[in-house]
Amino acid sequence: MDDPLIERARDALAEAYVPYSEYRVGAALKTADGTVFTGCNIENANYSNSLHAEEVAIGAAVSAGHREFDRLAVSSGVRDGVTPCGMCRQTLAEFCADDLTIVCDLGDSEVATYTLGELLPETISASTLADADARGETEPPHDAEESS
Ligand code: THU
Ligand code: ZN
Repeated sequence: MDDPLIERARDALAEAYVPYSEYRVGAALKTADGTVFTGCNIENANYSNSLHAEEVAIGAAVSAGHREFDRLAVSSGVRDGVTPCGMCRQTLAEFCADDLTIVCDLGDSEVATYTLGELLPETISASTLADADARGETEPPHDAEESS
């Protein structure tokens, strides 16, 4: 039997708006309380405004008040095991710990399973900024002040 969260990602990609790439992506994000939010990619004629399925799903979840997540499933129309891109990995890292499970659809009931930490080792996070602030590193560097 297929992973139920993968099924939700597959359902979501049916609504993808992809007139430019014709590459459909669906994502399903399960919150800590078991609620599932889905998203699909939504392209734009200027290309750069295109929304990724994962960011649509996390945007829906966060805007509904959720902040803790358990599992993400991603599927493309061709079931090629597509993984979240670098930008989406960083967006996930804002809310999810390294141990978030990400399952990617390979078709035939096969999935590739990763953790967010595997896909995005070493990232900037709120703690990076807090640590820098605690060390006084958010002030201009001493030599920058001298040269101005
Ligand atoms: N895409 C996603 O929806 N998620 C990703 O993380 C990878 C890329 C979409 C964006 C674009 O609509 C299409 O896939 C081709 O890049
Ligand atoms: Zn992305």
